[in-house]
Amino acid sequence: MRPSRSCAFVAALSLAAGACSGTQSVLSPAGPQAGTIAHLWWIFFAILGSIYVIVISAAVYGLLRRRRSEPAADGVPFYGEPGRSDTSEGSITTVVTTAVVLTALILVVFVFVNAATEHALASRTQRNPVEIVVNGHQWWWELTYKSRDTSQMVTTANEIHIPLGEPVLIRATSQDVIHSLWIPNLHGKQDLIPGHERTLWIQADVPGVYRGQCAEFCGLEHAQMALLVFAEPAEQFNRWLEQQRRAGVTPSTPDEQRGQQVFLTGPCALCHNVTGTRASARVGPDLTHIGSRSMLAAGMFPNTPGYLGGWIIGAQQLKPGAQMPNLAIKGEDLQPLIAYLQSLK
Ligand code: CUA
Repeated sequence: MRPSRSCAFVAALSLAAGACSGTQSVLSPAGPQAGTIAHLWWIFFAILGSIYVIVISAAVYGLLRRRRSEPAADGVPFYGEPGRSDTSEGSITTVVTTAVVLTALILVVFVFVNAATEHALASRTQRNPVEIVVNGHQWWWELTYKSRDTSQMVTTANEIHIPLGEPVLIRATSQDVIHSLWIPNLHGKQDLIPGHERTLWIQADVPGVYRGQCAEFCGLEHAQMALLVFAEPAEQFNRWLEQQRRAGVTPSTPDEQRGQQVFLTGPCALCHNVTGTRASARVGPDLTHIGSRSMLAAGMFPNTPGYLGGWIIGAQQLKPGAQMPNLAIKGEDLQPLIAYLQSLK
């Protein structure tokens, strides 16, 4: 193999291997639900792959055999002796009948393994589970951690934290149009329908950060509607939840205090909530703990002061069509506003 060709071969191979692992892959299950689905995928792959190989082999065999029986000295193709066919009508009927019966059998097998998978997905439950309402918005995810005591409920956005090894109940719905929640390492797709609530269980047995993506076209920024799932040990998860239950931190530096003033008196407070302040709007993501999140704009940018500033003044350039308008924040106000938002851990 020439070096360039072998390089391309290695690249293709590593690409194929890469597709089977990673933070957003069906073939790299991190929990029982995704494991069941991956199992089903491999059954389909084995059966359909075998059929493909058999069909292609038969086609190649047919072509080669036909070529061998082509003396054609007079330019007329000749397929065997006249009056005697290699394949009699009887044997063709047998082959076709066998193929039809096998096809029907395979379809029946698929129906059963599919039903078994559905059953396995639905049968994993837990008493008093962590319960999260996932509400799709154009184009971000609103997440509410339920609790019987409403003061203990937590609202956040775009980043789900779950305890390791425990089934977590997801109640999926939508605020506007149909979205689809898809976290390939943990579960299959689940449509989010406005006005309806659908439930599914997810469980992560392997710690890590898994990427999810909206999987139903929902408008201009559908492709930029991602979320992250942090699967962490129960202790770490409980610490996170406890911290999220607190009100937004009180600004401690003059810069942050000024930033809070800008936030509360400017346009930010018309759409966002920061618990513990006068800002209590629910149009955009809850910002009470925005400083503790790793990404901005539903998985688009890392949560750094630079991107945050860019997002505040130029959201329409970064994510055209998003509900977040470009805000005309004065230059001297921007830095304090960023400092305040970053302090909201
Ligand atoms: Cu939401 Cu696509």
